Amino acid sequence: MRAGSVRISRLMAWTNLCEFSDLKEGQGKYVDVGSFQLAVFLHEGKVFAVDNECPHAGGNLSSGMVMDGCAVCPWHYWAFKLDTGQMHGAPTVKIGAYPTRLEEADGKKLVQAELPG
Ligand code: FES
Repeated sequence: MRAGSVRISRLMAWTNLCEFSDLKEGQGKYVDVGSFQLAVFLHEGKVFAVDNECPHAGGNLSSGMVMDGCAVCPWHYWAFKLDTGQMHGAPTVKIGAYPTRLEEADGKKLVQAELPG
């Protein structure tokens, strides 16, 4: 880093989204947390968290289905990879995709996402 320059980094924090038992394989769950509106999916036993709003015309991805590892928007069927947020067939079109983990607390299995602070 050069003298006099300022490094700006985005802080990340693990944030509770829901309980694991709230999720159903292949279905989305809408989660509104802080400034994030997320679609959380359980797909092949793994949890994914992506932005809920479709960049095409604002469809709710949490209401869509999962196909080939993608969240498919229910309005016009644009598909976004759950792991990267990239649009299937057009990777420069992208939504936010966030790391997730499961944490045990008070006898519950919590789904957490690492979100920019
Ligand atoms: S609003 Fe999502 S595909 Fe059109």
